[in-house]
Amino acid sequence: MNILGIESSCDDTSAAVLTDKGVQSNVIASQSIHIKFGGVVPELASRAHQKTITQTVEQALKEAEISIEEIDLIAVTQGPGLMGSLLVGLCFAKGLSLSRDIPIVGVNHMDAHIYANFIDEAPEFPFVCLTVSGGHTQLVHVKAAFEHEILGKTRDDAAGEAFDKIGKILGLPYPAGPVMDKLSKDGNPKFHKFPQALLKEGLDFSFSGLKTSALYYLHDKSEDWKKEHLNDVCASISEAITEVLIKKLKRAVQQTGVKSIAIAGGVSANSMLRAKAQKLAEELSLKLHIPHITYCTDNAAMIAITGKMKAELGEFDDLAMRPYASI
Ligand code: KG4
Ligand code: ZN
Repeated sequence: MNILGIESSCDDTSAAVLTDKGVQSNVIASQSIHIKFGGVVPELASRAHQKTITQTVEQALKEAEISIEEIDLIAVTQGPGLMGSLLVGLCFAKGLSLSRDIPIVGVNHMDAHIYANFIDEAPEFPFVCLTVSGGHTQLVHVKAAFEHEILGKTRDDAAGEAFDKIGKILGLPYPAGPVMDKLSKDGNPKFHKFPQALLKEGLDFSFSGLKTSALYYLHDKSEDWKKEHLNDVCASISEAITEVLIKKLKRAVQQTGVKSIAIAGGVSANSMLRAKAQKLAEELSLKLHIPHITYCTDNAAMIAITGKMKAELGEFDDLAMRPYASI
């Protein structure tokens, strides 16, 4: 089966081709227009998707050396995400489906982050997946394909949002997560102990207190001090975020008794989180699955693989399919 994946839920326009030989192309057009605003501006995002979607899909087909006539299925992000952004991808996919008579399947973006783990080597069910992105932070018990129990989630900010908002306080460009990751590598994670919220309570997360704590900690520091200790502060923030994530993941493993774990979403690209997940897997003798770095942040290959899995279960959609902003 040859699948064309289309993703446009936020500020990345992406198209990918997945065949029986694996991912043949995964083109990601990231929108730089939002940098000067320090966050995604929804109206600008949907306009940018409109401008780039045709060429992104064409590029994905070209790189895969495949024609549209050879595509058997279109998989497209249906939600959650920004309504205007989702509509661009969905309308484009529906138009292509109608004009070329290609079956279509709508994909949940958060499911797709989890199933990005299936692109290279499929994990065995059941497993617990820590899904950490800019909009969500969830611990999901994946019992079978599309049989999910959400064990815990954030009560306020998502982990990626915490990185981005604290990075903004530090004067870093949006999205600050990858920049903080890089700076942390030359910093001391024990430089300052930032709060780790809800550690004694269940499997929910909270990151808004960390943001406030960072704001108070930094407000009377001079620009010179901030410059001198930037790496240490980034490392200490990364330590606080990743420690909470890993401690809760450990608790979820103990609670469910699973033998496999996975991490997914943009924050799963974080080097400190990846290293801590590796350590946890060794400590508890678990099989660890982490997507290749290109499949962690938003991409259409993860949409294609999830569409493929849905199609294999006989799940298809039609042109009446509508986008949804939240889960
Ligand atoms: O999954 P994603 O691409 O989009 C959403 O679905 O939200 O995740 C984006 C989030 C952003 O908050 C970004 O700062 C964060 O993932 N992120 C990282 C890293 N790479 C991306 N956070 C920490 N370290 C990274 N290396
Ligand atoms: Zn995402």
